[in-house]
Amino acid sequence: MRAITISRPGGPEVLTVSEVDEPEPGPHDVVIDVAAAGVNRADVAQREGAYPPPAGAPVWPGLEVSGTIVALGASVTGWKVGDYVVALLSGGGYADRVAVDEGLVLPLPKGLDLALAAGLPEALATAWSNLVLEAGLSAGDTLLVHGGTSGVGSIAIQLGVALGATVYATAGTSEKVAVCAELGAARGIDYRSEDFVEVVREATDGRGVDVVLDMVGGDYLARDVEALASGGRIMLIATQQGREATIDAGALMAKRARIHGTTLRARPLDERRAIMTAVREHAWPLVARGDVRVFLDSAYPLDFAATAHRRMESGEHIGKIVLAVR
Ligand SMILES: NC(=O)c1ccc[n+]([C@@H]2O[C@H](COP(=O)([O-])OP(=O)(O)OC[C@H]3O[C@@H](n4cnc5c(N)ncnc54)[C@H](OP(=O)(O)O)[C@@H]3O)[C@@H](O)[C@H]2O)c1
Repeated sequence: MRAITISRPGGPEVLTVSEVDEPEPGPHDVVIDVAAAGVNRADVAQREGAYPPPAGAPVWPGLEVSGTIVALGASVTGWKVGDYVVALLSGGGYADRVAVDEGLVLPLPKGLDLALAAGLPEALATAWSNLVLEAGLSAGDTLLVHGGTSGVGSIAIQLGVALGATVYATAGTSEKVAVCAELGAARGIDYRSEDFVEVVREATDGRGVDVVLDMVGGDYLARDVEALASGGRIMLIATQQGREATIDAGALMAKRARIHGTTLRARPLDERRAIMTAVREHAWPLVARGDVRVFLDSAYPLDFAATAHRRMESGEHIGKIVLAVR
């Protein structure tokens, strides 16, 4: 079968169309014939050699797919051959087929386009686990999402709104700010021309926000603390602006606030299964109703994975990029 392998750490040009062995399902795995694969920022980091796949995962990238089940491991009980599904992966999605634990698979919601659905598992599992399972976001809360038009951010805005929160979101151009509002944000904030701390303070009558979803890190962390309400929670999921930060620890204490870092791929299988169970139970109905949808930036054939990576690295994309495999 085809897979997009990484010939050596480097730029998009190192992504190579290769022939690799068919996946062998373990007892609890299903094999998915991939219709489409989501492209994530983590795939770019993996290609550059900065984010190696965990032990046991395929070495080629791809954290999420949609497709059809074509084979079952001996102990699989919840799925049958022919089911249309999406899946959260530790890697290996940029390929014709992939094996994945049955607990990381969700049924394709009725009426949802198979290619679009490939953009859901990673962003939705990240948003749900951080906003709901860890930060306890609920109706009436206020939420600040950084990177509002990223794959993760675009889902997080819609999820926050669907849960009854008031959502503010940052983005780097006026077009992206407008999309944040289109996705349901009460106020999009252009981080290049506005100070998100000031905007959030004004919008909340000085109270601050209950939850921040931060994928920027660096000096954003200190400003997140400033933007927080008492009892607030900062969920840190990436450090694109730097791994080191100086914060006012006194302000954090005075606000009885928390900073909580997470990664999804590195979590043990039982934790990822639990997240997908919660997503299926609580977030999947929101997807089925159309309250949470994939905001598609672009789709490329699998063989054009390098072009898809260039698009992501340009920073011009708005929403999700997917690879159409079949
Ligand atoms: N910890 C986890 O479990 C987990 C899981 C999934 C994703 N992530 C991380 O979440 C981030 C989003 O992933 P994705 O695949 O959705 O990526 P993406 O679509 O490429 O989005 C990256 C986003 O980061 C924003 N950004 C980058 N540098 C910034 C800066 N200095 N100031 C403000 N915003 C900045 C961009 O905003 P503009 O375009 O508006 O400039 C863009 O919205 C990535 O860093 C990824 O590694 C973490």
